[in-house]
Amino acid sequence: MSELLATRVGSLTLKNPLIAAPGEHLIESEGVRRALRAGAGAVVVKSTNESQAARDQLQRAEYMAFDEQWRPTPWGPSASPSATIACRSGLSPKSFEQWLEDAAVLDREAKEYDAYAIASLVLAGLEPAVAMARQIEEAGLRVLELNIGTPYASQAARGAVSTELDPERVRIIVTGVRAAVRIPLFVKITGQSERVPDLARAAFEAGADSVVMAGRLLGFIPDLDTFEPMLGTSLGIGGFWNLPLTCHWLAVSRAALGGDKPLIGTNGAQSGLDIARMMLAGASAVSMSSPVMLRGFEVLSDALREFERFLSHKNVRAADLVGVAADRRKTFADMIPRPDSWRNYVPA
Ligand SMILES: Cc1cc2nc3c(=O)[nH]c(=O)nc-3n(C[C@H](O)[C@H](O)[C@H](O)COP(=O)(O)O)c2cc1C
Repeated sequence: MSELLATRVGSLTLKNPLIAAPGEHLIESEGVRRALRAGAGAVVVKSTNESQAARDQLQRAEYMAFDEQWRPTPWGPSASPSATIACRSGLSPKSFEQWLEDAAVLDREAKEYDAYAIASLVLAGLEPAVAMARQIEEAGLRVLELNIGTPYASQAARGAVSTELDPERVRIIVTGVRAAVRIPLFVKITGQSERVPDLARAAFEAGADSVVMAGRLLGFIPDLDTFEPMLGTSLGIGGFWNLPLTCHWLAVSRAALGGDKPLIGTNGAQSGLDIARMMLAGASAVSMSSPVMLRGFEVLSDALREFERFLSHKNVRAADLVGVAADRRKTFADMIPRPDSWRNYVPA
């Protein structure tokens, strides 16, 4: 394991901080293998739960990429780096039994890459989630991620997925799952809240080993040709523009909870330099999903190469980046006066 790239997330050491986050490209085992071969420190397999409606939703899912003028842009590696990705996604189409068997095989294979294949549940009902978490541990998987912050709960079939906004609910859910398993538990929370640090605190207090922040937002894009909503309704949206929002949540959560609570950044990272940005904001590891689904698995290997070059150039180790910029955050009142400086920023 390279000293330069290694990072710790609680009790877990990752060979590098890049986590391939779930999306449709990680439904098939071959997708997970490609992410492992691309060098990811961990790969989170496409999520499952007990809801048939969440599975069915995958067969109605649609995906679009837009350029910076909200014009549809082709799906693929040539999409502009400023693309916004909009979709209605669903969960793994596999039966839970098949999903579990595949995930366990993949985590065994991941060991050969000095990496992890992480199991992922999207919360629907708590009791089934607890039962599935137990089976995941029994099957030998080494890490569990529990997503309680999908963008879609208000839009999808009732009870299919969750967008938990209340810290007390987070406490109850995480306490339940934590009591069922001993393996490291990552909890992925919503960004559709002004209480992200409170949600994270509740998850840690209930026994989460790490909190992944923050889930995608909902958006609505009118089509100027047809006057219809793009893809018919509100959509999960994401893109490079979400990086500062993620970094903000990381920094304020670190300030609120302390530097000993490992955070994982998600939403808006698409390069090696973005890994560095999220780590400086407080992430111990950084995940990437939609840029990989949009452009291909090379996004992962390219990001790792760029990140390694950045570390060598700066002569720092990945682990040394965590929270450095976050800890230098000041209040507005701390800033020195700049009299009439605003005049330079209005039209002449
Ligand atoms: C098409 C699509 C499918 C996704 N599926 C899942 C999923 O099954 N489980 C999950 O926890 N997150 C899922 N996500 C969320 C991503 O893992 C990630 O957290 C989010 O897209 C923000 O990161 P990004 O900017 O790297 O895409 C999905 C995202 C997209 C775009």
